[in-house]
Order: sequence, then structure tokens, then C-alpha cells
Amino acid sequence: MPARRIEGYVIVSADGMLANADRMMPDSLKFEGDQTFFNAALDRADLILHGRYSYEGQPNSPKRKRLILTSVTAALAPDPSNPNATLWNPAGATFDQACERAGIEAGTIAVIGGPDVFGMFLDRYDTFWLSQAPHVRLPGGYPCMPGVPARPPQAILAAHGLEAGEAQILDAAHEVTVTPWRRAVRRAD
Ligand SMILES: NC(=O)c1ccc[n+]([C@@H]2O[C@H](COP(=O)([O-])OP(=O)(O)OC[C@H]3O[C@@H](n4cnc5c(N)ncnc54)[C@H](OP(=O)(O)O)[C@@H]3O)[C@@H](O)[C@H]2O)c1
Repeated sequence: MPARRIEGYVIVSADGMLANADRMMPDSLKFEGDQTFFNAALDRADLILHGRYSYEGQPNSPKRKRLILTSVTAALAPDPSNPNATLWNPAGATFDQACERAGIEAGTIAVIGGPDVFGMFLDRYDTFWLSQAPHVRLPGGYPCMPGVPARPPQAILAAHGLEAGEAQILDAAHEVTVTPWRRAVRRAD
């Protein structure tokens, strides 16, 4: 069993967008049930990983250990604005080196975006939790991962060896669900 589990989390509109055309996550994509699910998942994670413009903004966020992708550092550096965060440039340090610097040899790593960061881990997720808001459309919006909207995110996850499990309802009134996409063949590392 891999020492590190990698899990992805995103909520997308019916057309596969994670933000609007201004690259902002609109209120129309925020649902209490999804926020509760997301918050609980991040409380269980050992490390949060995201790009420089993504941040979950929850009450426990300052306590969470995190890796922030950025090109402002050559490889790895402490984040001067957050003692729990490490800045990571993948051009200068491997993922293993970044996890080691963050003090995570084993445990669950939650990848929370944005799109390019989701794309980086497509072959490595143990589970990708895809929340969907089927009544929200964001025309001209910001696609949730590379390859969208030419293909829906479900097709991309399937093409990378993930299989859909049973969906859970997060908000019945708005028919918001989350589906775990799990790797059929586990990684060897
Ligand atoms: N709906 C959802 O569930 C969800 C999830 C996540 C994000 N979002 C939304 O998406 C938007 C943010 O997306 P984004 O694409 O702008 O942000 P992002 O991925 O959080 O940040 C992009 C920045 O991260 C750094 N980065 C990413 N990949 C890198 C790499 N391979 N090497 C070095 N640096 C790298 C770069 O920072 P530097 O410029 O410092 O080099 C880049 O400018 C926000 O509106 C957010 O709310 C929504």
C-alpha cells in the first residue's frame, strides 16, 4: 500500500468549470453541503497541496500543513507569510522532496487545485472526489482540469485509470452530489 494517499477535491458546474470567466469561484458554485464535506475531508488530511491562487478559506485553514506550488522559489522554501506552509517549484524539486520538506512521509495529501495542479496528479490520485452542481452553468468559465471542455472531467478521470463509485448527495434541493473516482489498480510506490 502506498505510504502516501493522494486525493483530489473539486466542485464543478454542469459544463465542467471550477470558476467563472474572471477565474473567480462564484457564489453560485458554493453549497453548504459541499463546503461541509470539503471541510471535514481537509480536517482529516495530513497535507494540503495547491497552486498559489487557490486557498480553501476555512476556520481550520491556518492550522493545516500545506505545500503551495509557485515559481517564486527555485525549488523549496518556507512561506514567509505562513509557518505551516512550504513553497514548492516542481521545476527544482520532486514531489517526494517536497513532501519530505513538509514533514509528510506517510499520510493523506489533499490536492485542491487549480486546474493545472489537478492535471499534474491525474496519474497519481488514489481517489478524486468530483462534486457536481448540475444546475449551474458557467459559459466561458475556467475549466476544472486540462482537456475540459473538449471532454467532460469524468472522461478524463476514466482515461487516467479512475473508476466512478457511488455518488453521495450533498445538497438535495440543488441536486449537488460528490462521486469518488477511485484507482482500479493501485500505484506501486
Ligand atoms: N471549484 C473548485 O472546487 C475550485 C478548486 C480550486 C480552485 N478553484 C478556483 O480556481 C481559481 C484559481 O485557479 P488558478 O489556476 O488561477 O490557480 P492556482 O493553480 O491555485 O494557482 C496558479 C499558480 O500556482 C503556481 N503554479 C501552478 N502550477 C505550477 C507549476 N507546475 N510550477 C510552478 N508554479 C505553479 C503558479 O504560481 P506563480 O505565479 O507564483 O508561479 C501559478 O500562477 C480560483 O478562482 C479558485 O477559487 C476552484
